[in-house]
Amino acid sequence: MFLQRATWPEIEAYLAESTGIVVPIGSTEQHGPTGLIGTDAICPETIAAGMAEAGILVGPTLSIGMAQHHLGFPGSITLRPSTLMALVRDVVTSLAVHGFTHFYFLNGHGGNIATVNAAFAEVWADASLARRSSGLRMKMGNWFAGQRVVSLARELYGEADGSHATASEIALTWYAYPELARDDTLDPVRAPDGPIRDAADYRKHFPDGRIGSEPHRATPEHGKRFYEAGLADALDAYRRFVRPDQG
Ligand code: NI
Repeated sequence: MFLQRATWPEIEAYLAESTGIVVPIGSTEQHGPTGLIGTDAICPETIAAGMAEAGILVGPTLSIGMAQHHLGFPGSITLRPSTLMALVRDVVTSLAVHGFTHFYFLNGHGGNIATVNAAFAEVWADASLARRSSGLRMKMGNWFAGQRVVSLARELYGEADGSHATASEIALTWYAYPELARDDTLDPVRAPDGPIRDAADYRKHFPDGRIGSEPHRATPEHGKRFYEAGLADALDAYRRFVRPDQG
């Protein structure tokens, strides 16, 4: 079930059965010369669609994240950490007004992790400082870090998966949009590796945008396997999270 395609009486009826919701969260940022700018939003959104088919309510994708280090490449958009924290806090507290209690953010972008967890702490701090209980559970799950996905990436690509514009995430976008798949081999074949700082430094050290990856290894068929692995990981994690007295 998708929030955006439901009516308010349908959401009211859902709330009588469950107070949990999945919110896909990603980024709008370059993914090397062959990867889609929406990769980090498309990946969790694609997996969340499978969760929606399983009867779980899926909220609107938050498709812009904390991506300041990618601004050296055309098309990338960032929210400041403070803006992203305000966005997450307002989404959670709006839905909490209606009675939602369990918020599972299915994430596609490593750069969001620290900021989104800080936003959760802000929501809990509001309650703690007012000496009341929020009753809210919030958790971030990274689709790319699930057990099945990690094993599959290791099996298919080993070290060549890299850490940005990875073959695994690009394969998943090509499963979602097979008409956009391509087979260019890049030079160098394996992108350089190293730490992330600001946008100018990033462009200097990672001139084509990739980090440590060989995205030409991706195929739409691999993408289908990543979808199945990612969905199984996400369903397990979500069901553990909403189980009474767990999460
Ligand atoms: Ni990515």
